[in-house]
Amino acid sequence: MQLFDAIRSRRTSNGAFQPQPIAPEHIRQILELASHAPSHFNSQPWRFIVVQDQARRQQIADIAGDSMRLLMEAGTFWRRYSRYFRFSQAEVEQSADGIYLDNMPAAIKPFVRYVFSPKGGAVMNKLQVPRVLGKDAHKLVASSPLLLGITLTRAEYQEDQLSGMYSVISLGAVIQTIWLTATALGIGMQFVSTPMEVEGQWERIVELLQIPDDQALLVLFRLGYTDPKVKRPTIDWSSPQRKSVDELAFTETWGTPFTQGRDPERS
Ligand SMILES: Cc1cc2nc3c(=O)[nH]c(=O)nc-3n(C[C@H](O)[C@H](O)[C@H](O)COP(=O)(O)O)c2cc1C
Repeated sequence: MQLFDAIRSRRTSNGAFQPQPIAPEHIRQILELASHAPSHFNSQPWRFIVVQDQARRQQIADIAGDSMRLLMEAGTFWRRYSRYFRFSQAEVEQSADGIYLDNMPAAIKPFVRYVFSPKGGAVMNKLQVPRVLGKDAHKLVASSPLLLGITLTRAEYQEDQLSGMYSVISLGAVIQTIWLTATALGIGMQFVSTPMEVEGQWERIVELLQIPDDQALLVLFRLGYTDPKVKRPTIDWSSPQRKSVDELAFTETWGTPFTQGRDPERS
């Protein structure tokens, strides 16, 4: 796959992967290419932890499933993140960002805007939405052939130091390198962030993976070969929309439109 195609086709995989393990040479290729990512002063502050053992993946899936259910039941998620949710194609087109809740059981569809709102928590709990989401999250993580954790060394990742910010920027670069390589190999990825959102849950993963105190586990992904026939999760979202360069970029000074290379057909 060409680089430009990988950049354009990289997507978060919300659905299940094919069950077979990822080929060892593909895992190594992903990690070797990841090692070429830029970092401040070439500090390479990241370390990778590859989890394939079925029992360990199951334990992490238990934590991920519980986290999703607890997070949804508490209503915290909607209060924290409702501004990112879109409920119609018109909203998607208007904002060109956020995530569109475009797949759900018919029973929820008519009330979607209300149910997925900070006030809709009780209804959502009545409709068993947290349980469904928790079950889906559990299944997705448990059935993923590989989980990948990335840590940053605490010597660099210090919140009160510039190196803290630099190491997080470096983490972004290494994640994108991994994601593009995975895409080129037909491997999908999804962040597993919900355990970070519920008190005590991320620490359970840190303990399970025996991450030492001088390392901070910052991200966890699930990976597997993408399945073209995949069924979407019961409640699902999509987010391929992007803002145009015209909206994203300025020239020389803030607010002055960047017009170079623009399609001359456009006004
Ligand atoms: C820091 C960070 C955390 C994220 N956490 C999650 C997550 O917990 N679950 C998930 O499915 N996607 C997560 N995402 C993925 C974004 O939702 C996704 O990248 C965005 O909607 C654009 O969609 P795309 O990746 O398909 O292009 C996360 C992305 C970032 C950068």
